[in-house]
Amino acid sequence: MIAQQIKTAIRDIPDFPKPGIIFKDITPILKDPALCDGILDAFIAQLGDTKVDVVAGVESRGFLFGLSLAQRLGVPFVPVRKAGKLPYERKKKVYELEYGTATIEMHTDAFEPGQHVLIHDDLLATGGTVTAASELIQEMGGVVAGFSFVVALGFLNGRQKIAPISDKIWVLAD
Ligand code: PRP
Ligand code: MG
Repeated sequence: MIAQQIKTAIRDIPDFPKPGIIFKDITPILKDPALCDGILDAFIAQLGDTKVDVVAGVESRGFLFGLSLAQRLGVPFVPVRKAGKLPYERKKKVYELEYGTATIEMHTDAFEPGQHVLIHDDLLATGGTVTAASELIQEMGGVVAGFSFVVALGFLNGRQKIAPISDKIWVLAD
């Protein structure tokens, strides 16, 4: 099944980018077109008839399946980008990291107020990134349609962090 195929494909890299961190390298998934298709099929099946007007993918690895998912759904894709990358009029959100802060931005015309925005990223860890994305989307008048991830690191309790925002959390492998 898809969860096992994803887990088998993901490569654990110890001590990257820092000592003590085990990095989940998803690049072997991307080399397997059939698995990529299976991932999209699984997301489409799980989403069912959930109302999604727009897919927002989180830079950078959330772009990989985010655009394909939006195309499968037949809806627009919009990027959530790190600071200073988007050229047009934009709105930003500053959020806390373990050490310091980070900033994400979206174009102000990414979606219309009241639209249902699915937040997509490759991996759910602490949930800090997608929480910031959801706050930004809500501040811009959007409705969070839910969250989709290829993989989640359960021990970091990201699900618990984002559950109050939306109980629609789709994870293919955890
Ligand atoms: C990783 C991953 C998620 C985020 C998850 O991205 O792709 O976006 O961290 O962490 P969190 O749940 O604790 O917020 P990263 O910041 O490494 O950047 P990248 O996608 O550009 O590689
Ligand atoms: Mg990322």
